Amino acid sequence: MLARARSWLDDRLGLKTLVELGSHKTVPVHRFSVFYYLGGMTLFFFLVQVCTGVLLMLYYRPSANEAFESVEFIMTVVPFGWLIRSIHSWSANLMVFFAFLHMASVFFMKAYRAPRELTWISGVVVLFLIMGFGFSGYLLPWNQLAFFATKVGTDIAGAVPFIGDWTVRFLRGGDRVSGGTLSRFYGWHVALLPAITTVILLVHLALVQVKGMSVPPACEEESGRRKPMKFFPHFALRDLTGWIFALGVLAALAALFPWELGEKADLFAPAYENIRPEWYFVFMFQTLKLVPGGEIFGLEYEAIPILLFGAAGLVLMLVPLLDRRVARDGKSTGWSLGGVAALLFVIGMTCWGYASLLPLYVVFISVLLLSLFAFFTRGKSEDR
Ligand code: HEM
Repeated sequence: MLARARSWLDDRLGLKTLVELGSHKTVPVHRFSVFYYLGGMTLFFFLVQVCTGVLLMLYYRPSANEAFESVEFIMTVVPFGWLIRSIHSWSANLMVFFAFLHMASVFFMKAYRAPRELTWISGVVVLFLIMGFGFSGYLLPWNQLAFFATKVGTDIAGAVPFIGDWTVRFLRGGDRVSGGTLSRFYGWHVALLPAITTVILLVHLALVQVKGMSVPPACEEESGRRKPMKFFPHFALRDLTGWIFALGVLAALAALFPWELGEKADLFAPAYENIRPEWYFVFMFQTLKLVPGGEIFGLEYEAIPILLFGAAGLVLMLVPLLDRRVARDGKSTGWSLGGVAALLFVIGMTCWGYASLLPLYVVFISVLLLSLFAFFTRGKSEDR
């Protein structure tokens, strides 16, 4: 019976071809192989976001009069609503964090080299999109902090020359942050961004399948000596172990540190103190805070760092096309040093923004844990 059902499905879907393809997929083994799990971990958090987001949509109401109350209802009345909301918020942050880790690791492993330029570019686009998820989702509970942070965040867009005013009105759906902005952000958060992200993410994952995993230039000799690991079942089961562990961590974080709701937004209250965006925007926010008021050739001083951040985003996206040396001989010390400088800037500004060394400790502990994990899973250097 089962065999007949399988053959029926196989005739229609070509399952055998898929299984055949999967059985040939392998993952290179070398001392940095542990970094191959970071993309999968980011994917796990993305899937958690989709599942918990759909559940939250069942009760959330996107209007200035009801948004805060509906979130309060989710947290106090809906069975396990508090848990789902907390998991959604924690997982959002962990997804951005792991996307950053994944990007840093593929950057330093030079995985953007030909023929993986498009894998990198699609990855950067997904990163920007998930930052868009964070920005739009922050406003949805309609609390004081979110309201004023969105006001300041969208104000910043106004300093961009020529298109600033238009961008602010486009983001806010009017001149001020209002219920209209909330509906607009909701539309972005639950319809447009998920649709666009899903498509680009599928392209990213398809490119990874087509091109296979790259080997960092420094590990080519080692990887040549060692037998690659079969993706099914060995790598996939290790991925799954990581996902189950991550689910446990998420559940523990959500239960022990439930996400707060704060006070309902009051549009006429004086500006909230300690306005701060999500942690992954703090380095830009802090840089802008240091810029004095004034103009040069009709350009506000504030516009200069904004334009520089825009240019940096473009350079990040085009790294595979700009780093010519790595294509020739696998060496790109200049770009690696540039990457370290950029990381130090981001971490330094984030610490300054929070007036705390916590961001530095988090990065330090993550690097330490990943190094320990790489060390203990390095295996024996077996010959092919
Ligand atoms: C939601 C976000 C993302 C997801 C779910 C995701 C997922 C994945 C997965 C599953 C892999 C294969 C395993 C691995 O190498 O870790 C991968 C590979 C890759 N990703 Fe991503 N990724 C994301 C974002 C990014 C970003 C932001 C970048 C860089 C800017 C990036 C660049 C790459 C590259 C270059 C590879 C190929 C690695 C190699 O061949 O060694 N990805 N991604």
